[in-house]
Amino acid sequence: MDQGTTTNPLGAAVQAIRAARYVTAMTGAGLSVESGIPPFRGPGGLWTKHGEPPMNGYEQFLEDPKAAWEARLNPKGPMRVLWETLQAARPNPGHYALAEMEKSGTLRCLITQNVDDLHRAAGSTKLAEIHGNYTLVRCIECGGRRHRDEISLDQLPPVCESCGGIVKSDTVSFGEPIPGDVLRVCQEVSRDCDCMIVAGTSATVYPAAQFPIDVRQRGGVLIEINPYESELTPICNISLRGPAGEILPQLVDTLGAAS
Ligand code: APR
Repeated sequence: MDQGTTTNPLGAAVQAIRAARYVTAMTGAGLSVESGIPPFRGPGGLWTKHGEPPMNGYEQFLEDPKAAWEARLNPKGPMRVLWETLQAARPNPGHYALAEMEKSGTLRCLITQNVDDLHRAAGSTKLAEIHGNYTLVRCIECGGRRHRDEISLDQLPPVCESCGGIVKSDTVSFGEPIPGDVLRVCQEVSRDCDCMIVAGTSATVYPAAQFPIDVRQRGGVLIEINPYESELTPICNISLRGPAGEILPQLVDTLGAAS
């Protein structure tokens, strides 16, 4: 099936989802635009406005973890905008629709590049947060995660209670390897997946962008949800052009109606 042959992409998407054995989704910043968090690229993107951040954030953290924590606790510029909108954001109908798809058994797993905790807040539990979660901190030695409210910031950088390692935000910095535990889940899920809904991502950052490509190369179906074209558009079977907060609920309603 290719998107050029269908005049009813929503119907085609429902048909593909119902025919699939293992449906997953991968989301990006576009999912949270309707929750008030700006994307990074494209219209209104933080990097579009302020330029891409340094690609060696993790190296800088390792060089001076105390300074990195102080900068994080007192963000400036685009990071301040991101931080403030993260604090204020609540899930939108797109997040709830994906949680509904998990609850109904349609969606097996959701890989998200977003660190905003909104999928979890909307009720998604089968979730792989490949770039981490801003409400958590993680030890860079043992990988142990805790909620950020459970650690003391009297001493910077905080150290891990279990192994004494340095603790950083769970959000993956540029140049930081994706933590092995979450990377393994993403690799297993995309290996088993034969239909992936790709919503709200420019698909420009790896390894996340590789998962839909692998699904497609193995003959799986890609359904894109995005108001604009992305790097993935040329290999997507179906493209649903529009905001995720409108299209995902339509998809869930049509799926339900068709059952
Ligand atoms: N609904 C769906 N998609 C939308 C919406 C919307 N309402 N608004 C914008 N988009 C699309 C844009 O067209 C764009 O393709 O969301 C995408 C956002 O792309 P990016 O800002 O690049 O976000 P993402 O793909 O998640 O970036 C990946 O880059 O900076 C790093 O770590 C950061 O996780 C992020 C990664």
